[in-house]
Amino acid sequence: MTALELRQKFLDFFKSKGHTVIPSASLVPMNDPTVLFTTAGMHPLVPYLLGEPHPGGKRLTSAQKCIRTGDIDEVGDDVHLTFFEMLGNWSLGDYFKDEAISWSFEFMTDKKWLGLPVERLAVSCFAGDSDAPKDEESAKLWRACGISQERIAFLGKEDNWWGPAGQTGPCGPDTEMFYWVDAGTSAPDNFQATHDDPRWVEIWNDVFMQYNKTATGTYEPLQKKNVDTGMGLDRTLAVLKGQRSFYDTELFKPMFDVIGLSQEVMTGDEARKARVVVDHIRATTFMVGDGVEPSNKDRGYVLRRLLRRAMVYAKLLGLRPHWLKALVGQVIQIYSQAYPELVERSEEVFKVIEAEENKFGSTLEKGLRQFRALVEGGETITGHEAFDLYQSYGFPFELTQELSEQSGQAFDEAKRKQFAAEFKKHQDLSRTASAGTFKGGLADHTEEVIRLHTATHLMNAALRKVLGEHVWQKGSNITKERTRFDFTHPEKMTEEQKAKVEELVNGWIARDLMVKREVIPLEEARQLSAIGVFGEKYAETVSVYTVLDPTTNEVISREFCGGPHVEHTGQIGKFRILKEEAVAAGVRRIKAAVA
Ligand code: ALA
Repeated sequence: MTALELRQKFLDFFKSKGHTVIPSASLVPMNDPTVLFTTAGMHPLVPYLLGEPHPGGKRLTSAQKCIRTGDIDEVGDDVHLTFFEMLGNWSLGDYFKDEAISWSFEFMTDKKWLGLPVERLAVSCFAGDSDAPKDEESAKLWRACGISQERIAFLGKEDNWWGPAGQTGPCGPDTEMFYWVDAGTSAPDNFQATHDDPRWVEIWNDVFMQYNKTATGTYEPLQKKNVDTGMGLDRTLAVLKGQRSFYDTELFKPMFDVIGLSQEVMTGDEARKARVVVDHIRATTFMVGDGVEPSNKDRGYVLRRLLRRAMVYAKLLGLRPHWLKALVGQVIQIYSQAYPELVERSEEVFKVIEAEENKFGSTLEKGLRQFRALVEGGETITGHEAFDLYQSYGFPFELTQELSEQSGQAFDEAKRKQFAAEFKKHQDLSRTASAGTFKGGLADHTEEVIRLHTATHLMNAALRKVLGEHVWQKGSNITKERTRFDFTHPEKMTEEQKAKVEELVNGWIARDLMVKREVIPLEEARQLSAIGVFGEKYAETVSVYTVLDPTTNEVISREFCGGPHVEHTGQIGKFRILKEEAVAAGVRRIKAAVA
């Protein structure tokens, strides 16, 4: 089975069970301040998991592009990746454990679908604690499917629970499915005792969102229960082919070929480095494909860090010139059918990556030499020197730390602090290390955020009126305190332009306009000139929010959006622009608040 076939089979299976197929959302999450990237298939569905009706109905399925950077140091082993695709199915207050489990079992084992032998499957269920009881219900359903009692392990929250870490919102127990990948031995019967064996590979996770975690930390049963599932495409593909690692699959093999490396002949250390290179270039190609550009902050910093780490490893491996371009081209080719937007944006992708290569390439060699001189001189690298490597040679801090540790020098807290102090002094503090941003989680639906959300739509409309129709949303991020909005515009806004935008938005707020939600076919929405996010793909039926004057029917703003929003603009409060600045060539950023 090819990757293309696996993707299609999954979607077809759930379509046959009454699910609407929705397209992958961008890797850049819209309206979600809790994460830098889309980290799971559920991520773009957060408003719907919190109760907004989805235009596609109550049963949805997708193949979603995801980025997870929390495990970046593990990349290079058999099971960790930064970019991956997640196949998923959702029930929004519709079916629950019964159907979810029996469909998971049917899809995995039926010959018509994946046809995996039951003898090599095992599952884990939530063991229960003081917050929620043991999930006997799921275990019973698995047994009814034909999974033996011995192959069901009960594990705690760290393994079998999904939800907002330390936050409030929907969450619940999950049940995970494992496949025994070692064809040479038969799978052990007792899964409870062997679940840590790396030959048990997790391929799918069914989450049962049945509780709401309240601000006081209690778990209340939810009225409307949801199902959220995630199957890793790369892992499952490897499993189906009997390959130990996804690096052996058709999704990676051509990448090793193009840089002239074969996993079979590399030493363990070389293979790990080569895996890091191909993983990171696949991730960065997709990130740039979704409009991320290298910078020293947030998403741009993650991109820069991955790209530069790959470049250092490529240098250590002695890859031929032009390896980077060749790899990027290969990624685009591998995914040309599944993600045609990569082909459409390929010129831009090559341009952005090449610019970063030129920028870092010229100092990379010197930086490495400097690094070696420090290490070979027997000195330990200080936080101050790490900062110097960053500032003079563009070495991301984490890279220096990693290279030092590889040469046997530990990087303790004191050095980290010293580096951070230097960094702050230069007023260029990267916020990527800030805790929490990489964790998955549910967006904040507090009143403050909702008011700012509608204000953001009005600001978008005002910007298009004041600056012109070339203004397109590139991203947004809303916290209780402020909205941050990135948009395409070539130059700094003048004071008059900013004042004009504030005046327009406050004028619309004062008119107490109506905010209306409609679910309509995409074509109709386009005809109504609804605006969306630049480069985003939309499903066939979409949710559109319109701000209009009900007495005259004058439309102020109309956007593709999942919501939620205030009901009328008078609820927003007074709007104020706090700051306007550049984020990348041709992209500006506004921070604004309401009071
Ligand atoms: N959201 C769940 C996961 O990512 C399905 O594992």
